[in-house]
Amino acid sequence: MDASQIIQKMEVWRFSSRRVVFVIRIMRVEVLLLLLLCQTAGKMHSMNCPFPEDPFPILHEFYQPGELVIGRIPSHIFFFDSSPSFMEQPTWMLADKPVSIPKEYQNILALAFAVKEINEKSGILPNLSLGFHILNSYYIAKMTYKATLSLLSTQQRFIPNFKCDHQKNLIAVFGALASETSANIATVLALYKIPQFTSGSHAPLHGGKMLFPHLYQMVPNEAHQYMGVVRLLLHFRWTWIGLMAMDDDNGDRFLQAVVPLLTQNRICSSFTLRITKMAFMDDFITVVLRLEEQYRVFLQSKANVYFVYGEPPSLHILSMLLSAAAKFALPPLGKVWVVTSQWDFNTWSINRIWDIEVFHGAISFAVHSSQPPGFPDFLQIVRPSWSKGDGFIQEFWEQAFSCSMTMSDPHKENERICTGEEKLESLPAIFFEMRMTGRSYSLYNAAYAVAHAFHAMHMSRSKQKKKINGGQLNFQNIKPWQLHHFLKYIEFNNTAKDTVRFNENGEILEGFDITNWITFSNSSFVRVKVGRLDPQAPRGQELMVNDDQIVWHKSFNQVLPISVCNDNCHPGYSKKKKDGEKFCCYDCVSCPEQMISEQKDMDVCVKCPEDRYSNAHQTKCISKVVIFLSYKEPLGIILAVLSISFSLITALVLGIFIKHQDTPIVKANNRSLTYMLLISLLLCFLCSLLFIGQPLKVTCLLRQTTFGLIFSVALSSVLAKTITVVLAFTATKPGSGMRKWVGKRMANSIVLFCSFIQAGICVLWLSTSLPFPDKDMHSLNDKIILECNEGSAAMFYCVLGYMGFLAILSFTVAFLARKLPDSFNEAKFITFSMLVFCSVWLTFVPTYLSTKGKSMVAVEIFSILASSGGLLGCIFSPKCYIIILRPKLNNREQLIRRNKIK
Ligand SMILES: *[C@@H]1O[C@H](CO)[C@@H](O)[C@H](O)[C@H]1NC(C)=O
Ligand SMILES: *[C@@H]1O[C@H](CO)[C@@H](O)[C@H](O)[C@H]1NC(C)=O
Ligand SMILES: *[C@@H]1O[C@H](CO)[C@@H](O)[C@H](O)[C@H]1NC(C)=O
Repeated sequence: MDASQIIQKMEVWRFSSRRVVFVIRIMRVEVLLLLLLCQTAGKMHSMNCPFPEDPFPILHEFYQPGELVIGRIPSHIFFFDSSPSFMEQPTWMLADKPVSIPKEYQNILALAFAVKEINEKSGILPNLSLGFHILNSYYIAKMTYKATLSLLSTQQRFIPNFKCDHQKNLIAVFGALASETSANIATVLALYKIPQFTSGSHAPLHGGKMLFPHLYQMVPNEAHQYMGVVRLLLHFRWTWIGLMAMDDDNGDRFLQAVVPLLTQNRICSSFTLRITKMAFMDDFITVVLRLEEQYRVFLQSKANVYFVYGEPPSLHILSMLLSAAAKFALPPLGKVWVVTSQWDFNTWSINRIWDIEVFHGAISFAVHSSQPPGFPDFLQIVRPSWSKGDGFIQEFWEQAFSCSMTMSDPHKENERICTGEEKLESLPAIFFEMRMTGRSYSLYNAAYAVAHAFHAMHMSRSKQKKKINGGQLNFQNIKPWQLHHFLKYIEFNNTAKDTVRFNENGEILEGFDITNWITFSNSSFVRVKVGRLDPQAPRGQELMVNDDQIVWHKSFNQVLPISVCNDNCHPGYSKKKKDGEKFCCYDCVSCPEQMISEQKDMDVCVKCPEDRYSNAHQTKCISKVVIFLSYKEPLGIILAVLSISFSLITALVLGIFIKHQDTPIVKANNRSLTYMLLISLLLCFLCSLLFIGQPLKVTCLLRQTTFGLIFSVALSSVLAKTITVVLAFTATKPGSGMRKWVGKRMANSIVLFCSFIQAGICVLWLSTSLPFPDKDMHSLNDKIILECNEGSAAMFYCVLGYMGFLAILSFTVAFLARKLPDSFNEAKFITFSMLVFCSVWLTFVPTYLSTKGKSMVAVEIFSILASSGGLLGCIFSPKCYIIILRPKLNNREQLIRRNKIK
């Protein structure tokens, strides 16, 4: 290989997550070369392990021998690496002081604990000892590859694929938290088909089932988490959030998956922040300056909820900046942080004095964890000298407790010497938690899964073998890939009573815990389980959150935080899009008339049904009140009383006339016409009663026709009377029998004829369009009017018009005849009464047309009463006056004389 090839390869290794496929290709070539080398080497040197020891062994390792060995590549300790200069050959040497991530140490202990338990149990893998080999990856691709190949090599020899001792039989490898590291491990292990268990983010591996069929995920599929977060946002009605993701492939993938999901659920991001990835120590200052700039974005945003996606180590930068805001003279943030399961305070021990209170009240999705009963006791025995194979504990102990194990180290001159009796439980939670975290728990379960699978394989083999050669089993012949068949169908209950099994994609069937972080000023925090996300639950019930249990950031004063672009639209308003802004930001406009919106934030207002109307605030539809002119209300009572009183008066007048029927004043001008007029007036008054009360089929039919007919009779009687007067003076000489006879015949036929025409109109009306009871829902906003629909307005106005015609005719004739010298000349009175009649009905039409509902009916009744009353008063009161009060005048001579004097 020449220099340019080396440079190219270095590049590929550094950013391998971006080019997984490419790396695989290169790695395959690489490993095949190595295999070839080993094959020849193996042949040359037989089995005495003549290989030289590795000159650059991985310093941080923990090896516990066993017949079966589980490998693990964590990222517990790292170095600040400088960017390559390309001036010298890269080496395996790591410079400078190692930095420990104390929290990772619990994961190492979890595996050691599981292996110890399995070895002590007689029920599982009896007669076989399980061991483990943990090699640090330093978050560096080249070291990850080296660690992986070291697992495949004999202890202390870096010759992969070649075994000197028979002790180390690698059966499974547990990956690191960082997905990039897991991917690097998987590329190598894919060649060997060794089962690999990942417990961190696995996004780059997901969908790569074709590439990595031997991968088991100890965390549920990440897509469930995205859905869970969306459910959570919807649950709290947070529609305006800040999104943060690393500026790398993982971040891209995350945004590609989540942004459409958010949009579908009508949630918008106020900003999307890509957190710069720090590859080398040299970038540190640039990254911090970038973040400081981005901090201003946080401060300006109205979003109160930030959804962060990312995984260590890059997120350290973010948490460090936020925690150290005060040191940068930045105002503190009071927000709700929603974080995915990858997040943890994987604090570097050198950043001991962090103020993590900015994350107080954060809500985090965490892989479900329970507490295996023996773990607290196990932690009690952990001391710097607890196990001689543990190469991690020195860095952990020194940096977590800030003390020194060796006195001679010049770097640690000013530090105190560790006593070795320090207590793990005295460490703040950012360094060490006494309870198993989700990640430790998944490693614990993975170890058991491997043991159970191996046990199952052992059992099935020994059954077959027994038949052949009596049950002896050589575990050395068992190859790791043979485990897959058993792992796929494994199902067991662990010591914490959780069931462990995988789905068809090799993902563990498990949910997420929703935890709430309560931080303290002493850098400690507790996770409180406040809910659960169960992807297997029926749709819509996946998320269960106990709202009351959640503690929010202090800036919210324990009031449920709101995170929206603008305040909700109140009921009675609907949303209106703002130009040029996301759909989560909108104006509120009040609903148009007669439309309502019942809830907050409605997209549109809806119309009330016909029989209901909107209230004043346009938030509800109210039932309309049904109205009609009834006997129960004052107006109805007054009108009814009036009509009955008038009828009684008319009846009284009729009585008086009948009693005095032989006096001249009654006999004058056709007595039977007078009676007819009185009777029709009586009926007129009574017919107004038809208009009061709820409109029924019968009353609607009768109302206008009865009224028209009776009034026509009355009017034609008046007309006949007037004509009688005129005829008396023009047609024949006074006193002759002929005159009387002609007058009577004439009068009767006029009444009959005129009424007949009206009757004809009414028959026509009823036969073409029947009046019927109807509901008027539209005339008044808040009321339904019960009314009679006339059927045909034209016919109604015909009836009215005909009456008007009769009235005007009577009026004209009476006006012409008013000066005729008849002793009982009624013409004057008739003129006057017709004047009253006409003016009443002329005012009726416009009033009738301009009123609605009850008043419309009342107007008609009033007009009926007024006009009939006018007729009664004008025509009959003078006569009654004479009959009752001046009986002396009621004789022929007196009347004639009176006229002559005039
Ligand atoms: C384990 O070893 C004991 C004695 O050494 C033997 O009796 C027993 O059958 C072995 N069990 C298995 C499962 O091989
Ligand atoms: C930190 O403070 C909290 C409450 O003040 C206390 O419960 C906890 O034990 C402390 N943790 C440590 C490690 O000192
Ligand atoms: C695990 O425990 C549950 C009850 O807690 C039981 O129904 C189930 O059968 C157990 N599964 C196995 C594999 O033992």
